[in-house]
Amino acid sequence: MTVALDSSRAAYERARLSIGGGVGSGLRAAMQPHPLFVRAARGAHVWDLDGDRYVDYVMAWGPMVLGHSDPRIIEAVAEVLPRMQVVGTGHEMEHRAAEAVLAAVPHGERLLWSNTGTEAVQVALRLARAGTGRRRVLKFAKSYHGWHDTVYAAMDEASDSAGSAVDERAMSASRGQSPSVLDDLVVARFNDVAQVERILGEAVERDLAAVLVDPIMSNAGVEVPSPEFLATLRSMCDRHGVVLIFDEVIAGFRIARGGAAERFGVRPDLSVFGKAMAGGFTQSAVVGRADLIDQVTSGVTHAGTFNANPIALAAVEATMGALAEPGLYAALEAISATFHDRIGGILDAAPDGGSLRRIGSLLQYVPGSGATGLHGTGGRWGEILAGMLRRGHQFMPSGKVFLSTAHTSSDIESTALALEQLLGAPNPGKDPS
Ligand SMILES: Cc1ncc(COP(=O)(O)O)c(C=O)c1O
Repeated sequence: MTVALDSSRAAYERARLSIGGGVGSGLRAAMQPHPLFVRAARGAHVWDLDGDRYVDYVMAWGPMVLGHSDPRIIEAVAEVLPRMQVVGTGHEMEHRAAEAVLAAVPHGERLLWSNTGTEAVQVALRLARAGTGRRRVLKFAKSYHGWHDTVYAAMDEASDSAGSAVDERAMSASRGQSPSVLDDLVVARFNDVAQVERILGEAVERDLAAVLVDPIMSNAGVEVPSPEFLATLRSMCDRHGVVLIFDEVIAGFRIARGGAAERFGVRPDLSVFGKAMAGGFTQSAVVGRADLIDQVTSGVTHAGTFNANPIALAAVEATMGALAEPGLYAALEAISATFHDRIGGILDAAPDGGSLRRIGSLLQYVPGSGATGLHGTGGRWGEILAGMLRRGHQFMPSGKVFLSTAHTSSDIESTALALEQLLGAPNPGKDPS
């Protein structure tokens, strides 16, 4: 079966006349052959404007760990919606949702609410700078922490291979970005223990306030942190008075209920959560040490008209309740492993088919040749992306794959059959061992 995509193509052409780039967030334009326009989304499926159904592995770029339109979340939101929308003062959803999040996070003493991951990263950095009285932030090459000027940077690749000191220099990642903020960043390589030991050993001289790390490199190829790497970050930050921040906007509540701290046994000072926390509604949080977060009562500004809006927080409380169900993460792990085995096996058997990396319910396509990077892939992914959309299976332009508790083995089997059809018969010359 192939889908026509006619209505999406027409809608995209129309949208480009009224919306810059025709999409609500720039990276969505990378979808091949063009973005899908969706009328409805439920469970593991979305329906386009023609009424055609797709198995969805985009899951809104991460938030939908419970699948689309989970009835528990819809019900909680529907209860609040007619009573209030945004009130600009206190309401009980604020602390009820906060208690539910803090109960799940091992280092959760206190939190602050904001709307997007980008905003919450900025709040975390401000808390770290205020708490240490220092300026710079150590981040890792190719990791994404939001589009804001102060963190949207690449490593100076030109001098990377030599491993010399200049490879710690940040480079602008977007036209229009202020070059002055890049001096606040030091960029290192993920999992390079010797490099972070050296840089953090000079934390005072370098004026380092924080280490900002996505512990699973969600947007840069998905990478397991070596136990030594995270342990070194923790011990060096303790020794040199640097605030350790985990950006768990994707990892949080997806790789474990307690996020990276639970999964890898290393507790940061602060974590940033978003996406999966609110089951499809706009909400993010900075969670962690009370002494750092309570600085908002002594001169650290944290504000936002839509912070802690009741609708999103009803969704947070319902989502956290659903995620606490016994066996949920075991089931998510099992379905993700099924996807990895079945789809990974087909890729492996195809000529230059590539492979899949997996941490929990997040997977990444890795080309047979060529490297993955920030928001980019290679190998046969472009062909797979467009070909699978035409066959009714929606994947991400970046080659990331998001699974949810709503995906079933029959969804995966139908994806497997379509992929086999797309890539052709397995390569008979390939050693099956
Ligand atoms: C690891 C990480 N941090 C921060 C962000 C920014 O979050 P938002 O898009 O909600 O601003 C993202 C978004 O994809 C992300 O993946």
